[in-house]
Amino acid sequence: MFDQLQKIRQQAGELIPVVMDRQKLNEIRVRFLGKKGEVTRVLRSMGQLSPEERPRLGKKANEIRDYIENLLEQKLALILAREKEEHLQQETLDVTLPGRNIILGHRHPLTQIMNEIKEIFLGMGFEIVEGPEVELDYYNFEALNIPKDHPARDMQDSFYITPEILLRTHTSPVQARVYEARVPEIPVRIIAPGKVYRRDDDATHSPMFQQVEGFLIDRQVSLADLKGTLLAFVRQMFGPDREIRLRPSFFPFTEPSAEVDVSCIMCNGVGCRTCSHTGWLEILGSGMVHPRVLEIAGYDPEQVSGFAFGMGVERIAMLKYGIDDLRLFFENDLRFLKQF
Ligand code: DAH
Repeated sequence: MFDQLQKIRQQAGELIPVVMDRQKLNEIRVRFLGKKGEVTRVLRSMGQLSPEERPRLGKKANEIRDYIENLLEQKLALILAREKEEHLQQETLDVTLPGRNIILGHRHPLTQIMNEIKEIFLGMGFEIVEGPEVELDYYNFEALNIPKDHPARDMQDSFYITPEILLRTHTSPVQARVYEARVPEIPVRIIAPGKVYRRDDDATHSPMFQQVEGFLIDRQVSLADLKGTLLAFVRQMFGPDREIRLRPSFFPFTEPSAEVDVSCIMCNGVGCRTCSHTGWLEILGSGMVHPRVLEIAGYDPEQVSGFAFGMGVERIAMLKYGIDDLRLFFENDLRFLKQF
């Protein structure tokens, strides 16, 4: 029996090293260590031995079982490692393929223009103040020298909430609010950006649009200051070659009042379709703050004066980018928005 065990050990020692797959390895395990395996069989037949010999043989058999188990285990680890390696080699992962891009969005063109306008005026020393979109009739009209029955109210068809409360039709009420809050402080140099609402809806009018109001109150402010400020703005916004012109106009809260035109961006003032062959494009309303408006707020119009202007952000964007339909800004069509 000792010889038998020795033979088993030798066979296992020769067989296991040359096996290279799991199934065969398992067959070997069964052959030697299984219930009917060779080692098991030897142990079972121990009864034939004398009581002195039994423990020696038992010890020897255990040693050989341990030896075989050890070999099997090492071999199994080797086979598993090899299988993994083969699996990795077969995997078809092309690391040279370009990665999938994460699509980055960007700011809406109107937000871009609004930011540009703010930057330009911040650069000239203006501060930014915002007012409410749901406004009192008082600030939207009356404090701006537009009494209840004034025909100028017809220029701005309004959304009323109550007879005294409406959606503001322009950003000019921020003037009235700021004057009232700051009087008698000077200088006042402010822009007031924000949404405004009117009962209008076509290719060049939207019921909601955005304006930037600007106003400056100080001692001895003149029309020349207004013109210089707006020229500086226009040249930063539309290019260094632009000119502006002031055309007499009427607003109840300015005197005198002027519409401001910029030399046509498309034809440089020569005359084309965009500017209806005039060479000029209207970009904003402006004027010297009406003494009555200063007085209502508590300023002394004999001591201080100021200028004011109001521009439509959508209009500036349309002119700058040559867009002919205002509604494109609000439809959220990516084919349009991606161009900016
Ligand atoms: N609030 C005017 C409008 O919406 C625009 C405007 C004109 C504002 C003249 C001004 C100004 O501050 O001086 O039509």
